[in-house]
Amino acid sequence: MSKVAIITGASSGIGRALAFELARRGWWLGLCARRGDVLETIRGEIESGTPGARVETAILDVNDTAAVREAIPELASRFGKVDLLVANAGIGGERFAGDDRFALDEAIIRTNLLGAMATVDAGVKLFRASGGGHIVGVTSVAGFRGLPGHGAYSASKAGLSTYLEAVRAEVERDGITVTTLAPGYIDTPINSHMKSRPFLVTAEKGAERAADLIERGVRSAPVPVFPWNAVGLLMRNLPDFLWYRVMQTQLPRRQDAGARRRT
Ligand SMILES: NC(=O)c1ccc[n+]([C@@H]2O[C@H](COP(=O)([O-])OP(=O)(O)OC[C@H]3O[C@@H](n4cnc5c(N)ncnc54)[C@H](OP(=O)(O)O)[C@@H]3O)[C@@H](O)[C@H]2O)c1
Repeated sequence: MSKVAIITGASSGIGRALAFELARRGWWLGLCARRGDVLETIRGEIESGTPGARVETAILDVNDTAAVREAIPELASRFGKVDLLVANAGIGGERFAGDDRFALDEAIIRTNLLGAMATVDAGVKLFRASGGGHIVGVTSVAGFRGLPGHGAYSASKAGLSTYLEAVRAEVERDGITVTTLAPGYIDTPINSHMKSRPFLVTAEKGAERAADLIERGVRSAPVPVFPWNAVGLLMRNLPDFLWYRVMQTQLPRRQDAGARRRT
């Protein structure tokens, strides 16, 4: 029997590309997102283009954590056994502290942190009952250090990364592997509006690299590993005075002036 993967946020970008990549590698797929019609189109494309493929879909809003607890085991029951759960659903958005639209920060934390935690939690319950499995949490290099204009996004990803670290220790003896994947810039709708996207790779290339890391069962890695392992090291270790100097060049004029007044 083929291995089975459930992916949240599978209707676009990395989740969608990972679905195609895993199907190409012989995996069966349970795909979740809010846009059921898009998932059905993806299901048709994968099943018609990949001999032996099987795809099930479920409409799921990860902000509804009770629905997550029901949907993951329900999707799993359609296959009998699931090997891999990828908590990938996420949103982005730019906002500066003190601006209007605090609701955006709330939404980012709700989806990227609480929604992902609920997904991971459902995976732990599922895999404890089935004797083991693999959970992947999709974080971001933006979680390595707080990025101005993306404070909530950075916090959501740093928070998820720390949560995954704790869960990993809790479940290792239950035969459950926990992988943290931190993508760099992957060309998807989440960042297509950004002026600067260093070291950009296509969604297909990102998914291929992510699938390699997943199949190797790594604990934690950026995607792609190079150059983000080196950049990540730099981001984490750059002295504060240099970090803030570089980051303040990224600020729009108003914040820049405010930041200068404070120094
Ligand atoms: N692209 C990058 O450069 C990059 C870098 C670092 C990390 N990431 C992370 O990678 C993940 C995927 O992002 P992406 O780049 O592929 O973005 P994307 O193309 O915008 O895809 C986001 C996916 O998440 C789903 N989603 C959003 N809110 C949801 C919710 N409340 N419930 C369920 N599904 C939801 C969307 O589906 P529906 O709208 O149909 O629900 C969509 O399938 C995110 O966690 C993102 O933070 C991306």
